[in-house]
Amino acid sequence: MNGVFYVVGIGPGDPELLTLKAARILAACPVLVVPKGHEHGASTALAIVKGALPLAGKEIIEVHFPMRKIRMNAGPDPEVEAAWRRAALAILDRTRQGLDVAFPTLGDPAIYSTGFYTCQTLLELAPENQAVVVPGVSAIGACAAAAGIPLCQGDDMLAVVPATFDNQRLTEVFASFQTVVLMKVHRVMGRIVELLTGLNLLSRAVLVERSDQGGRERVVRDLAALGPGELHYFSTIIVRTR
Ligand SMILES: C[S@@+](CC[C@H](N)C(=O)[O-])C[C@H]1O[C@@H](n2cnc3c(N)ncnc32)[C@H](O)[C@@H]1O
Repeated sequence: MNGVFYVVGIGPGDPELLTLKAARILAACPVLVVPKGHEHGASTALAIVKGALPLAGKEIIEVHFPMRKIRMNAGPDPEVEAAWRRAALAILDRTRQGLDVAFPTLGDPAIYSTGFYTCQTLLELAPENQAVVVPGVSAIGACAAAAGIPLCQGDDMLAVVPATFDNQRLTEVFASFQTVVLMKVHRVMGRIVELLTGLNLLSRAVLVERSDQGGRERVVRDLAALGPGELHYFSTIIVRTR
């Protein structure tokens, strides 16, 4: 019988934010396929898992996923698609030997996650293979908690968008939602600060960098004071528009 493929949300960084279910499945799987953003760098997901449970005796397969913008209506970048396929084939090779495989992914797998793309690619190649998605604590909730603010109250509406949207699209989102979470802000911070200033929303924005990542968390409430180019990839802005 084929092994099961698990996409496991592992939270924003603190191993204590791994769910009991995630820890149980990761401990039980003999194979872990772990994503990394830089070919020669370390896997953040693997570091988080290592902080939560012993990995001795497991096969660890590191797969490099290039960081590229993915537009669903434009088709994926060929290099990114090749990485999803490489990961899916490595997983299938193990599940066809009857081994269960886990793919730990940061935060929750349902939110901008490589794990979900890999799962979809695997099911295209082998629809008969069982795949299970295990939810995790998303950076969205973790950043709100770090900032000490709610995401929604009463009849508030929440939007979660990439900060890389153009200004017109972002302006429409700010006009329609009471709370806007901007992910992937690190490369476009200057433009976002300008836009928020123009919309009179700068004082309503808070940035959380490296939430729950071992004492490196930073909560910034004065975005204008941030220097250029100093943000980590793990940075999120929450704007309460009203
Ligand atoms: C590709 S998305 C992955 C989101 C993830 N699946 C989740 O549910 O949190 C990466 C973006 O999530 C946000 N992010 C992830 N971890 C974070 C953390 N520990 N602190 C702040 N933002 C984080 C950043 O905006 C980052 O650019």
